[in-house]
Amino acid sequence: MFLYNHYLQILLTFLHCIAWVAMAEIGAKHEELLQAQAHLYKHTNYYANSMSLKCAVELSIPEIINHHGKPMTHSQLVSALQIPQSRSTHLYRLMRLLVHNGFFTMQKVHDHDEHLQLELQEELEGYVLTLSSKLLLKDHRTFATAFLGPTFQKPWQVLSGWIKGGEGGTPFEAAHGKGIWDYGLEHPDVSNLFNEAMAGDSSVVSSVLVTECKAMFEGVTSLVDVGGGIGVTGRAIAEAFPHIKCHVLDRPQVVASCKGRENLEFVAGDMFQGIPSADAVLLKWILHDWNDEDCLKILKRCREAIVSKEKVGKVIIIDIVVDHKGGNHDSTELQLMLDTVLMISVDGRERSEREWEKLFMESGFTSYKITPLGFRSVIEVFP
Ligand SMILES: C[S@@+](CC[C@H](N)C(=O)[O-])C[C@H]1O[C@@H](n2cnc3c(N)ncnc32)[C@H](O)[C@@H]1O
Repeated sequence: MFLYNHYLQILLTFLHCIAWVAMAEIGAKHEELLQAQAHLYKHTNYYANSMSLKCAVELSIPEIINHHGKPMTHSQLVSALQIPQSRSTHLYRLMRLLVHNGFFTMQKVHDHDEHLQLELQEELEGYVLTLSSKLLLKDHRTFATAFLGPTFQKPWQVLSGWIKGGEGGTPFEAAHGKGIWDYGLEHPDVSNLFNEAMAGDSSVVSSVLVTECKAMFEGVTSLVDVGGGIGVTGRAIAEAFPHIKCHVLDRPQVVASCKGRENLEFVAGDMFQGIPSADAVLLKWILHDWNDEDCLKILKRCREAIVSKEKVGKVIIIDIVVDHKGGNHDSTELQLMLDTVLMISVDGRERSEREWEKLFMESGFTSYKITPLGFRSVIEVFP
């Protein structure tokens, strides 16, 4: 027994030495090493943030809390969800992360219901929505789930092989056998989800656009929203500026069942083939889907649409300008994350100001003006 302990001591000392040498080799103090490990684990487990959000949306938790109309205790949430008591603590842990991540907040419960008699701290407080979870009530519900489903997750599984392979196409094509737009043609459910997610994004952006960026529409009497999806932005512009004749151009299957209004018309077409003539062409979240060569083709088509003998108009682009002045760490992180999302799904990219400028000059434009719009920017481009 004594001999066994002795050998164990020697073995442990030896292992300590190896660990010490390993640490010395990477030149990290203990604290730094632990911080580096935490950093690594945080990024390895970032998906837990996304998946918890997806789960909350699938369970309609934002709607349930909203419907409750006042801070909702955990047990009230459990009974509203009609889940077994045995899952109550699991739900509590999910909600704890979502509260930490700013999707819900805790507020004191003021009314005298039976839950106040309970001694657990969480029973004295209730969940309320934050602005971020209010977005999930309606328009952004689909955005939070569409991109976390298997269709958009599968390309990540093949990414390293795709990078090593060096063949054409995108990881989406490697995973699904066809590009995103063709895939949508064969999978209308996925296509509808995608269009709805985009519409959710547009409802927020367009409401800011038509109120905060009114000056951009001065002198504009006609506008084409190219790749305008199911027309949320086009409709917001048409309603805010009834004197502007708006067209929404998108692929036939996207606009097939869209209904216009007095000054709003849907046009089925291909932006590479032609864009109706107008004072302004809007490209919201379009150019980031395409490589430089295709962007040049689209921008040239836009230039043709806004320049005639009678007038010279402008192109209004809503897209990310990476690392643009005023960007903070969080918004740059989001911009770079979205850039990789584009990398896996389409042959596009998020661009820096220099990259944008190069595209504008090569497609025959002479000047541009950038106005920040959250993590994106509005870029007005002039011939
Ligand atoms: C990322 S979505 C943006 C939709 C919308 N602009 C928005 O921000 O909500 C890209 C859009 O481009 C459309 N699109 C793709 N190829 C197109 C083409 N060749 N001609 C016209 N639209 C196209 C898609 O159908 C889709 O609606």
